[in-house]
Amino acid sequence: MQSSNSPKYLIGSVIVIAILFLIAKLILSNMLAVADGVLEPEPMDAEAVEERIKPVAKETVGEEQIAAAPAAVEEDAAAASDGANTEENSVGKQVYNQVCSVCHSTGMMNSPRFGNADDWAPRLEQGMETVYAHALNGLNMMPARGGNPTLSDDEVKAAVDFMISSAD
Ligand code: HEC
Repeated sequence: MQSSNSPKYLIGSVIVIAILFLIAKLILSNMLAVADGVLEPEPMDAEAVEERIKPVAKETVGEEQIAAAPAAVEEDAAAASDGANTEENSVGKQVYNQVCSVCHSTGMMNSPRFGNADDWAPRLEQGMETVYAHALNGLNMMPARGGNPTLSDDEVKAAVDFMISSAD
């Protein structure tokens, strides 16, 4: 009886062990499924958040703003160059700021100071042609064309006009 029972017992215990493994597997996979169920909503949320952020980012930091910004800059530049083309003093102002102000803003080397009528009065007595000529050709420490030979006659004269008009 025992010899015939032993294999049965063995087979029985193998089946029991197999069933236990299956149960353990089921429990494990259930746990994994539960874990998946718990973990899954988070990426879903993250995606949802990402999707909610995306359109905002596209609209405010993306194409629209990047496209809008240069347009505004171009408009400003266009407005500025329009002013320079129509008002001669804008050219004069630009040349003065870039070239002449180095000396004429502070009266360096006794140069007539920008906006100082007293400094300019004796200069203007010579007549504008002489004043222009000195600006173009230089006078003592005053360099020809303010030291910038690329300036045109008109640009230098505009700068002179700008400095003198400021002293009125
Ligand atoms: C490096 C300094 C310096 C720079 C830059 C400079 N000037 Fe002068 N400028 C002088 C000095 C110094 C005098 C006075 C010269 C004198 O009377 O001996 C003077 C005088 C003048 C005068 C008076 C001339 C006269 O007949 O009395 C004019 C106009 C003038 N500058 C225009 C300009 C213009 C326009 C620019 C820019 C394009 C310019 N200067 C840039 C130094 C400078």
